[in-house]
Amino acid sequence: MKTNSPGITFSVPYEIAVVRPLRQTNLSEREEALRLAHYNTELIPQDVIYVDLCTDSGVSSLSSNQLAALAASRVVEPGMGLAAEGSRSYAFLVEQIQNYFGFPYVVPTTQGRSAERIWAKIHVKPNTVVAGNMLFPSTRTHVEMNGAKVVDVISDSAHDLTSSEPFKGNVDLKKLEAVIHEHGADQVSCVYVELGVNACGGHPVSLGNLNDVKALATVHKIPLFLDACRILENSFLIKEREAGYQNQTLHDVVQQTCAAADACTMSALKDLLVSAGGFILTRDRSNYQKASMQAFLDGVQLPGSAMELLATSLQDIFAAESYVAHRVGQVNHLWRRLNDGVPLVKPAGGHAVFLDVKAFLPHLAPDQFPAEALAAFLYHMSGIRVTKGPPAAPSQTARGVELLRLAIPARKYVRGHLDDVAEALFYVYANRHEIAGLKRIEDPARSKYDPVYFEQL
Ligand code: F0G
Repeated sequence: MKTNSPGITFSVPYEIAVVRPLRQTNLSEREEALRLAHYNTELIPQDVIYVDLCTDSGVSSLSSNQLAALAASRVVEPGMGLAAEGSRSYAFLVEQIQNYFGFPYVVPTTQGRSAERIWAKIHVKPNTVVAGNMLFPSTRTHVEMNGAKVVDVISDSAHDLTSSEPFKGNVDLKKLEAVIHEHGADQVSCVYVELGVNACGGHPVSLGNLNDVKALATVHKIPLFLDACRILENSFLIKEREAGYQNQTLHDVVQQTCAAADACTMSALKDLLVSAGGFILTRDRSNYQKASMQAFLDGVQLPGSAMELLATSLQDIFAAESYVAHRVGQVNHLWRRLNDGVPLVKPAGGHAVFLDVKAFLPHLAPDQFPAEALAAFLYHMSGIRVTKGPPAAPSQTARGVELLRLAIPARKYVRGHLDDVAEALFYVYANRHEIAGLKRIEDPARSKYDPVYFEQL
């Protein structure tokens, strides 16, 4: 072997230092757990779950560097007060963020949704519209809470579950132009682009598309904001699928993605491997100050120790590309295994695999809660938990799309877990005719915010 060759490629870029034991459960225990949870898999207690694919948010494992940062915290809590500049952990975080994302101003928050709330309050004007690509429900809600309307300008391929178009998250420029034309540029508060669009399958947005969106928005003096919480997977898929980026580093692609945007809101719970944190990234000093003040008033400043964890995680992630390659590779592995025998959304996305529930259970009517029924049956048979997850976008509901997300938490499961998920789903698919629908239990004593209770039909 040549001395400058890496030799065999390491397919897993970490080893496991701390483990959490999982208890084997049996069918009757799981039947009882389901009954107690009223057939709503969201309510199943964690100690009777085997592989949990209900979210990839805030559930990844800590690295030894993060543990060391926690153990030897340089932080004097609580938080950073009004003058963020005085905080050591804030300075550490800002240094990492400027390095990796290239934005000069950072407002750390407790979660992605608190960043969105503040940013929408500053930028979204009443009676205007926001053009978006099937935005996440929290982003949409914050836009609407400021009196504006979200108009979906995602490409048509995002609605075609069987299309293998590589960038189904792209904005349709003609739709965007039509929105600007119809409402007038001054009535479009912003264009908001989600990367690795969750609702349609975790599909990426290409850099070519993002640059075109930026050019069009600039002509009309409309700001372009990113929901960047899955920027790493999006950037990795750009490197894999978009001509011209194969030989660039992940860091380069991340920086070019950020360069196209005026600002980003970002949850750190997904790609950045922490259980708390988010931020606003901006180039505008006065809006940075407004947002910092609002975070202070809202009580959503990120504690110093959480900033240390986040900054350390950024160093870990960008130390080598193998981490993100492995993460997207795990999603791809499960997708490829399942694609042999189960109806899936195509092609593979970056953070999750999505089941096409209508094709999986054609014998169940939409009012029989097929996705929830499938999740309950899968749990009963295998102990694997999936949930309906974030609600579908209105443009999907209108088309009757019904998806079930298998969200793969980063740095948590090994290939054996994912192979068990595939085997369990093959079993469930082979026995799908046994799956009965569910009926929602109506109880006037329960509020509409209470978790839904079902009974089996
Ligand atoms: N944007 C996207 C694309 C998300 O997926 C989420 C959260 C948020 C914003 C909000 O971030 O949770 O930190 O406030 N997604 C989680 C999920 C809940 O399971 O997909 P947050």
